[in-house]
Amino acid sequence: MLANMDHEIYKQLEEVKLLPLYTATDLSYLDKLEEILVNNDVRFIEVTFRSNLAAEAIKKLAVSGELVVGAGTVRTLQEVKIAVANGAKFVVSPAVVPEVIEYCLKQDIPVFPGTATPGDIQRALDYGIKVVKFFPADIYGGLKAIKALSGPFYDVRFLPTGGIDKSNFIEYLNSKPIIGVGGSFIISEALIKEDNGKTADSTLKELVDLIKANKNV
Ligand code: 3PG
Repeated sequence: MLANMDHEIYKQLEEVKLLPLYTATDLSYLDKLEEILVNNDVRFIEVTFRSNLAAEAIKKLAVSGELVVGAGTVRTLQEVKIAVANGAKFVVSPAVVPEVIEYCLKQDIPVFPGTATPGDIQRALDYGIKVVKFFPADIYGGLKAIKALSGPFYDVRFLPTGGIDKSNFIEYLNSKPIIGVGGSFIISEALIKEDNGKTADSTLKELVDLIKANKNV
Protein backbone atom coordinates (compact mmCIF):
# COMPACT_ATOMS: atom_id res chain seq x y z
CA MET A 1 0.00 0.00 0.00
CA LEU A 2 1.28 3.46 -0.88
CA ALA A 3 0.93 6.69 1.04
CA ASN A 4 -1.72 9.26 0.19
CA MET A 5 0.40 12.35 -0.32
CA ASP A 6 -2.65 14.54 -1.03
CA HIS A 7 -3.56 14.35 2.63
CA GLU A 8 -4.69 17.68 4.09
CA ILE A 9 -2.05 17.47 6.84
CA TYR A 10 0.84 18.00 4.43
CA LYS A 11 -0.82 21.18 3.14
CA GLN A 12 -1.49 22.41 6.66
CA LEU A 13 2.11 21.75 7.71
CA GLU A 14 3.43 23.57 4.66
CA GLU A 15 1.34 26.56 5.67
CA VAL A 16 2.20 26.57 9.39
CA LYS A 17 5.85 25.57 8.82
CA LEU A 18 6.39 24.81 12.51
CA LEU A 19 5.85 21.45 14.14
CA PRO A 20 6.24 21.80 17.91
CA LEU A 21 7.60 18.68 19.57
CA TYR A 22 6.20 18.34 23.06
CA THR A 23 6.87 15.89 25.85
CA ALA A 24 4.26 15.97 28.63
CA THR A 25 5.32 15.22 32.17
CA ASP A 26 2.42 17.10 33.74
CA LEU A 27 -1.00 17.24 32.10
CA SER A 28 -1.97 20.40 33.92
CA TYR A 29 0.07 22.45 31.42
CA LEU A 30 -1.86 21.24 28.37
CA ASP A 31 -4.50 23.98 28.54
CA LYS A 32 -1.81 26.64 28.53
CA LEU A 33 0.02 24.85 25.71
CA GLU A 34 -3.14 24.82 23.63
CA GLU A 35 -3.91 28.45 24.41
CA ILE A 36 -0.44 29.62 23.33
CA LEU A 37 -0.47 27.61 20.11
CA VAL A 38 -3.95 28.86 19.19
CA ASN A 39 -2.98 32.44 20.10
CA ASN A 40 -0.11 32.29 17.64
CA ASP A 41 -2.04 30.36 15.02
CA VAL A 42 0.32 27.39 15.20
CA ARG A 43 -2.35 24.73 15.31
CA PHE A 44 -0.02 21.76 15.23
CA ILE A 45 1.47 19.61 17.95
CA GLU A 46 3.54 16.43 18.05
CA VAL A 47 3.23 14.76 21.45
CA THR A 48 6.14 12.39 22.00
CA PHE A 49 6.12 8.89 23.41
CA ARG A 50 9.00 9.88 25.68
CA SER A 51 6.83 9.97 28.76
CA ASN A 52 4.10 7.69 30.04
CA LEU A 53 1.60 10.53 29.68
CA ALA A 54 1.79 10.61 25.87
CA ALA A 55 -1.50 8.76 25.25
CA GLU A 56 -3.43 10.83 27.79
CA ALA A 57 -1.99 14.08 26.47
CA ILE A 58 -2.85 13.17 22.87
CA LYS A 59 -6.39 12.28 23.92
CA LYS A 60 -6.96 15.46 25.88
CA LEU A 61 -5.69 17.70 23.08
CA ALA A 62 -7.50 15.72 20.38
CA VAL A 63 -10.84 15.85 22.23
CA SER A 64 -10.51 19.59 22.65
CA GLY A 65 -10.24 19.85 18.86
CA GLU A 66 -8.31 23.12 18.62
CA LEU A 67 -5.08 21.60 17.29
CA VAL A 68 -3.99 19.05 14.73
CA VAL A 69 -2.54 16.51 17.15
CA GLY A 70 0.04 13.93 16.21
CA ALA A 71 2.24 11.43 17.98
CA GLY A 72 6.03 11.54 17.97
CA THR A 73 8.89 9.23 18.89
CA VAL A 74 6.71 6.32 17.76
CA ARG A 75 8.98 3.27 17.52
CA THR A 76 6.66 0.28 17.92
CA LEU A 77 3.39 -1.14 16.66
CA GLN A 78 1.98 -0.93 20.16
CA GLU A 79 2.77 2.79 20.38
CA VAL A 80 1.27 3.61 16.99
CA LYS A 81 -1.91 1.71 17.88
CA ILE A 82 -2.23 3.58 21.17
CA ALA A 83 -1.51 6.91 19.46
CA VAL A 84 -4.17 6.45 16.78
CA ALA A 85 -6.71 5.05 19.26
CA ASN A 86 -6.29 8.20 21.33
CA GLY A 87 -6.82 10.54 18.39
CA ALA A 88 -3.43 11.13 16.77
CA LYS A 89 -3.96 12.42 13.23
CA PHE A 90 -0.34 11.95 12.12
CA VAL A 91 2.65 9.96 13.31
CA VAL A 92 6.36 10.82 13.49
CA SER A 93 9.11 8.26 14.03
CA PRO A 94 12.82 8.73 14.67
CA ALA A 95 13.60 6.04 12.08
CA VAL A 96 12.06 3.99 9.26
CA VAL A 97 10.00 1.50 11.28
CA PRO A 98 8.16 -0.88 8.88
CA GLU A 99 5.44 -1.94 11.34
CA VAL A 100 4.65 1.68 12.23
CA ILE A 101 4.60 2.76 8.58
CA GLU A 102 2.46 -0.19 7.47
CA TYR A 103 -0.07 0.40 10.25
CA CYS A 104 -0.35 4.11 9.33
CA LEU A 105 -0.75 3.39 5.62
CA LYS A 106 -3.57 0.95 6.36
CA GLN A 107 -5.34 3.57 8.46
CA ASP A 108 -4.62 6.41 5.99
CA ILE A 109 -2.70 8.29 8.69
CA PRO A 110 0.17 10.45 7.42
CA VAL A 111 3.47 9.12 8.76
CA PHE A 112 6.81 10.91 8.82
CA PRO A 113 9.58 8.31 9.12
CA GLY A 114 12.93 9.53 10.42
CA THR A 115 15.65 9.47 7.78
CA ALA A 116 19.26 10.55 7.63
CA THR A 117 20.75 8.71 4.65
CA PRO A 118 19.90 7.97 0.98
CA GLY A 119 19.12 4.39 2.05
CA ASP A 120 16.57 5.57 4.62
CA ILE A 121 14.91 7.91 2.14
CA GLN A 122 14.71 5.17 -0.49
CA ARG A 123 13.04 2.84 2.04
CA ALA A 124 10.43 5.52 2.74
CA LEU A 125 9.93 6.10 -0.99
CA ASP A 126 9.35 2.39 -1.48
CA TYR A 127 6.22 2.89 0.64
CA GLY A 128 5.22 5.88 -1.50
CA ILE A 129 6.16 8.29 1.28
CA LYS A 130 7.50 11.53 -0.14
CA VAL A 131 7.63 13.67 3.01
CA VAL A 132 10.19 12.44 5.53
CA LYS A 133 11.62 13.63 8.80
CA PHE A 134 15.36 14.37 8.55
CA PHE A 135 16.89 13.61 11.94
CA PRO A 136 19.10 14.54 13.71
CA ALA A 137 19.45 17.35 11.19
CA ASP A 138 22.39 19.18 12.70
CA ILE A 139 24.50 16.03 13.17
CA TYR A 140 23.75 14.64 9.70
CA GLY A 141 24.87 17.70 7.76
CA GLY A 142 21.95 20.13 8.18
CA LEU A 143 20.88 22.15 5.20
CA LYS A 144 23.95 21.18 3.17
CA ALA A 145 22.99 17.51 3.44
CA ILE A 146 19.33 18.20 2.57
CA LYS A 147 20.40 20.13 -0.53
CA ALA A 148 22.69 17.28 -1.62
CA LEU A 149 20.00 14.65 -0.98
CA SER A 150 17.52 16.73 -2.97
CA GLY A 151 19.55 16.05 -6.11
CA PRO A 152 18.58 12.40 -6.56
CA PHE A 153 15.53 12.73 -4.27
CA TYR A 154 14.17 15.75 -6.16
CA ASP A 155 10.56 14.72 -5.43
CA VAL A 156 10.98 14.35 -1.65
CA ARG A 157 10.14 17.02 0.95
CA PHE A 158 11.94 17.13 4.28
CA LEU A 159 10.89 17.89 7.85
CA PRO A 160 14.21 18.49 9.61
CA THR A 161 14.40 18.18 13.38
CA GLY A 162 17.24 18.01 15.88
CA GLY A 163 19.40 21.00 16.75
CA ILE A 164 17.09 23.48 15.07
CA ASP A 165 16.53 26.74 16.89
CA LYS A 166 15.67 30.40 16.53
CA SER A 167 19.06 31.19 15.01
CA ASN A 168 18.84 28.77 12.08
CA PHE A 169 15.22 27.79 11.42
CA ILE A 170 14.58 30.53 8.84
CA GLU A 171 17.59 29.37 6.85
CA TYR A 172 16.08 25.88 6.76
CA LEU A 173 12.65 27.20 5.79
CA ASN A 174 14.15 29.21 2.94
CA SER A 175 15.06 25.98 1.22
CA LYS A 176 12.41 24.62 -1.19
CA PRO A 177 12.64 20.90 -0.30
CA ILE A 178 11.80 21.74 3.31
CA ILE A 179 8.11 21.53 4.14
CA GLY A 180 8.53 22.70 7.73
CA VAL A 181 10.80 22.39 10.74
CA GLY A 182 10.18 20.57 13.98
CA GLY A 183 11.63 20.56 17.44
CA SER A 184 11.44 21.41 21.07
CA PHE A 185 12.65 24.98 20.44
CA ILE A 186 9.13 25.97 19.34
CA ILE A 187 7.50 25.36 22.71
CA SER A 188 8.17 23.16 25.70
CA GLU A 189 6.64 22.26 29.03
CA ALA A 190 9.76 23.59 30.78
CA LEU A 191 9.30 27.00 29.16
CA ILE A 192 5.58 27.13 29.96
CA LYS A 193 6.37 26.25 33.57
CA GLU A 194 8.78 29.17 33.93
CA ASP A 195 6.17 31.91 34.19
CA ASN A 196 2.78 30.40 33.38
CA GLY A 197 3.38 30.59 29.66
CA LYS A 198 4.39 34.26 29.29
CA THR A 199 7.87 33.55 27.91
CA ALA A 200 6.64 30.56 25.90
CA ASP A 201 4.03 32.80 24.26
CA SER A 202 6.47 35.60 23.42
CA THR A 203 9.06 33.10 22.17
CA LEU A 204 6.56 31.53 19.80
CA LYS A 205 5.35 34.94 18.67
CA GLU A 206 8.93 35.86 17.78
CA LEU A 207 9.29 32.72 15.65
CA VAL A 208 6.00 33.37 13.86
CA ASP A 209 6.95 37.03 13.27
CA LEU A 210 10.30 35.96 11.81
CA ILE A 211 8.48 33.72 9.34
CA LYS A 212 6.11 36.54 8.40
CA ALA A 213 8.99 38.99 7.98
CA ASN A 214 10.86 36.64 5.69
CA LYS A 215 9.39 36.89 2.20
CA ASN A 216 11.21 33.84 0.86
CA VAL A 217 9.69 31.45 3.40
C1 3PG B 1 13.24 14.82 17.54
O1 3PG B 1 12.92 13.74 18.00
O2 3PG B 1 12.73 15.25 16.52
C2 3PG B 1 14.31 15.59 18.20
O3 3PG B 1 14.66 15.08 19.42
C3 3PG B 1 14.05 17.05 18.25
O4 3PG B 1 15.23 17.63 18.55
P1 3PG B 1 15.35 18.97 19.40
O5 3PG B 1 15.05 18.61 20.79
O6 3PG B 1 16.78 19.40 19.19
O7 3PG B 1 14.38 19.96 18.87
